[in-house]
Amino acid sequence: MCGIFGCILKEGAASPLIHESLKKLEYRGYDSVGIVTLNNGELQLKKDQGKIDDVHRLVNLDDLEGKIGIGHTRWATHGAPLKINSHPHLDCEGKIAVVHNGIIENYSELKIELENNGHTFVSKTDTEVIPHLIEYTLFKNPQYSLADAVFEAIKRLEGSYALAVISILEPDKIICARNESPLVLGVNENGYYLASDIPAFLPITNQAIIVNDGEFVIISSKGCEIKRISDSAIMKRTPKIIDWTPEMAVKKGYPHFMIKEIIEQPSTLRNTLRIQDHYLDLISTFLDRAKDVFLVACGTSYHACLAASYMFSKLAFLPTYPVYASEFTEQHGKSVSIDSTILAVSQSGETADTLSSVTCAQQRAATILGLTNVIGSTLTRVSRVYIGQQSGPEIGVAATKTFTSELSVLAQLALRLSKKRGKISQDEMDNLSEKLEEIPNIVEQIIRTQAEKVKQIAKKYSYAKTFFFLGRGISSATAYEGSLKLMEIAYIPSIAFPAGESKHGPISLIEPGFPVLFICPKDGSHKTLISNIMEMKARGASIISIIEEEDDAIKKISDDYVEIPKGIPEILSPIPFVVPLQLLAYYMALEKGLNPDTPRNLAKCVTVK
Ligand code: AGP
Repeated sequence: MCGIFGCILKEGAASPLIHESLKKLEYRGYDSVGIVTLNNGELQLKKDQGKIDDVHRLVNLDDLEGKIGIGHTRWATHGAPLKINSHPHLDCEGKIAVVHNGIIENYSELKIELENNGHTFVSKTDTEVIPHLIEYTLFKNPQYSLADAVFEAIKRLEGSYALAVISILEPDKIICARNESPLVLGVNENGYYLASDIPAFLPITNQAIIVNDGEFVIISSKGCEIKRISDSAIMKRTPKIIDWTPEMAVKKGYPHFMIKEIIEQPSTLRNTLRIQDHYLDLISTFLDRAKDVFLVACGTSYHACLAASYMFSKLAFLPTYPVYASEFTEQHGKSVSIDSTILAVSQSGETADTLSSVTCAQQRAATILGLTNVIGSTLTRVSRVYIGQQSGPEIGVAATKTFTSELSVLAQLALRLSKKRGKISQDEMDNLSEKLEEIPNIVEQIIRTQAEKVKQIAKKYSYAKTFFFLGRGISSATAYEGSLKLMEIAYIPSIAFPAGESKHGPISLIEPGFPVLFICPKDGSHKTLISNIMEMKARGASIISIIEEEDDAIKKISDDYVEIPKGIPEILSPIPFVVPLQLLAYYMALEKGLNPDTPRNLAKCVTVK
């Protein structure tokens, strides 16, 4: 997730405004920044790695000349957060400049085609194919206008994009386009603006024009024309007045980052499904060859590892050890060897416990693999190979969208490994891959149809002093995650354990009205789970069930239930089934008058052991 901004002004310099506006988009990405303006037929460009303030101190982003320009603040997905990979990117002749937010899935093929036609690339990014594709289109169609060339070029792009283009070829225009990544226009008496999000221009205008997916915009000082990419139809759209405060706008109008990030999950899951095959193949090859595999993480990332241990075992027949990073050295330090592989999972890539486990394993010559959300983090530097989960910055202290993205990547790895080992049939493989592709829409449906019900459940049980979260099989990982969310955000002591363990002790805590939440996908453990529910019910517990739609058997023995669309394979069930638990923690915190974004005693990244 990156931030883009552009403007065409009647009066005044573009670069200071672009700089100021990018600062308001910094929550979308902050590992490099760049601005390019057009002045007297030439492009003036400054960019570097680092946060906006640091780069500005180094190069002064405000002294570029010209009333038209575009800028970008980056969240690296392809290519490390280095100056060479920062946006804007140029074509070979330096006449076309592009900024882009999103993921071009087919960039490798396009890059080869362009290189075979004489284009030279300087960066490792997917974005750089865009200016070269525009240049190549103009070379093949010299009669084209800049807009025609951009229009033609974007039709060849697969994936998500919000992009803006300026060029000395037509120095009075900005061309932009959108597919899945957000793009919004602003207008006032001094000009036109484009941005990834409204906060970027809200201080200068509250008149916004939303650009929809599959639309293309030509902006000039005379106005803006919106076209549908599929058939070039002109889209008539009038500005709407935004009544958000700047603070609300950063959260897209949501009251908290946590709920914004929960609701963002369909989009982040789609992005996670765009990970390059090359990385999935590489990591799964290392896992395939390992004598023993340790999945090492903390907190929510550990719960993703716990779920992954079921995925790797059931799909690829690969035994793995999910281990709390804080315990790894003590528990396995001596047994790790050159034949061991450590898959370290860390959203931040900076968690001290996880990094110290990696150091311990490295000292014993183990192979280190990484899964993280932050390209350029320490984990990416110490890993032999790493995968970026592409969830975009997560501001809320509670891990939500990064958890479901971690699960999606781990499921893709398990599927890749299973195929490599020939452990499941092609039909089964195809079915699971299809279901994984459907998950973003299923999560969207859960949020749309069940959020209100979860809010009511939070209200009903806001009295609770303790909660149980129970599940069987892979759902025990979901239970642990739901329990952690409720503890860290609503400060309610909650206990999670595999449902089969109740009778070995914890059931002694049950008394009338004690809320017990069960995670009940329709999998092999469904029947046993019903008897686990009955055990609790018989002792007066209040039963809250997360069930598959129309699971009448569990509906009728539950006091409350939340429904998940049918047909989710058990092995993928933690991704959709965790969403109601994230919402429960969020709404419970609101019921208790707490701020879900800043829970007491916690930090977003725990860099101390
Ligand atoms: C989860 O909601 C917490 N914020 C915390 O448990 C977190 O998952 C843990 O600290 C690990 O962080 P990491 O994924 O950045 O390593």
